[in-house]
Amino acid sequence: MERKGSSMFATKIGAILAAAGSAVGLGNIWRFPTETGTNGGAAFILIYVLFMILFGVPIMVTEFAVGRYGNKDVTHSFLTMSDGKKWWKYMGLMPVVAGFLVLSYYAVVAGWTLYYAVVAALDGFSGKEPHEYSEFFSSFASDEVKPIVWLVVVVMFTAAIVALGVRRGIERGARIMMPLLFVFIVVLVVCSMTLPGASQGVDFLLRPDFSKVNGATVLSAMGQAFFSLSVGICCLCTYACYFRKDVNLIHDGLSVAIIDTLVALMAGFIIFPAVYSIPGLSPDAGPSLVFVTLPNVFQHAFGDVVWLSYIFSVLFYLLLVMAALTSSISMLEMIVAFFHEEYRASRPLVAVLSSVACICLGALCSLSFGSLSDVTLFGMTIFDFCDFLVAKLLMPAGSLLICVFAGWVVKRDNMYAELTNGGVVNRYVFPVYYAIIRYVAPIGILLIFFNGLGLV
Ligand code: PHE
Repeated sequence: MERKGSSMFATKIGAILAAAGSAVGLGNIWRFPTETGTNGGAAFILIYVLFMILFGVPIMVTEFAVGRYGNKDVTHSFLTMSDGKKWWKYMGLMPVVAGFLVLSYYAVVAGWTLYYAVVAALDGFSGKEPHEYSEFFSSFASDEVKPIVWLVVVVMFTAAIVALGVRRGIERGARIMMPLLFVFIVVLVVCSMTLPGASQGVDFLLRPDFSKVNGATVLSAMGQAFFSLSVGICCLCTYACYFRKDVNLIHDGLSVAIIDTLVALMAGFIIFPAVYSIPGLSPDAGPSLVFVTLPNVFQHAFGDVVWLSYIFSVLFYLLLVMAALTSSISMLEMIVAFFHEEYRASRPLVAVLSSVACICLGALCSLSFGSLSDVTLFGMTIFDFCDFLVAKLLMPAGSLLICVFAGWVVKRDNMYAELTNGGVVNRYVFPVYYAIIRYVAPIGILLIFFNGLGLV
């Protein structure tokens, strides 16, 4: 049954921007530089781009096809496309659970970015000594109330947009936030590249050092590619059921991947030249790079031109906030679509209830930087465990699941019809795509996965 107008994306560009909004997020601007910095720079980036092309895009396109064909939330799409096999509907619950986990810990970091944007706008970063930024961050992150309040603000804002619906909420939000995000990012790259010492940062990003590459690096690069493209969690599968039938899924998948990679690289071109512009700072500061190293850099990099420091930091944290929001919207939408279809509950009601659940789990993640810091799961804090579980286990597992599903369970003709729009487009690309989904991607994911965990 064809969807009603308001529950579909109105335009093709709206569909691309919404999917790109899901893909472009903290993964590009916070996680990518962190992983690149700690895994040796350009060599990591090369492997990451390879994964994007070889696995990421085909899997994304598969999610699109399953979602648009199924025309419902992820579990019902799995059910429809498997010709009614109940077992596959239950498999579709795995992404829903993963969606809860990812939104919970993601919203914690999104809350930090919102707080930092407000502090930057109130000029709260100026005039601090370098060591004070680290104290500022740790006393904020370990606080029992403040970060949770910002977490609640982020999740509630996300819920409000999702409750507004597909066209009025998600599409409109993406159409406003994504272009703004591109403008901010270009302005920031230009500013950063003019800093003294910028060329060292560019060098770090462009000159590969393969001696740093091992099984764990490769697993990290794959995890990062999947995380960055939002694949394996079926948010894109849910979005695709709002796509019009004439959307060319392979074309859109490629466009989203190109936008996503460009944004990640540009984030690198903002951050690393800035870090190298101050002697003594290092690019491998880990997750605190964006919250400790950068506020310090922003204050000192522009010398006496104080207003430039101010603008740079406000724009940067606003950029992070918008990127985070368009992604968290897609996470919540996937969960809301499931409960809405399964229990026929109203979207606003489900949006609020799911948000409350995410806030509870998110609060635990947040407290793992303070009073719960000694609670560990497999040697990791609750926050780190959620990140590990999502990026290194559930997303690759979800991607494997969708490859096996599309390559071996769904009829080839159905995949062909969906990806070629009934034999009109992509006819010559389809066999290559199908071979990747059936053989290359599943075998590759399994090998890298076991190797990264030290099992082969
Ligand atoms: N791709 C998003 C980012 O880069 C994160 C995300 C993961 C979004 C999973 C949706 C699902 O930040």
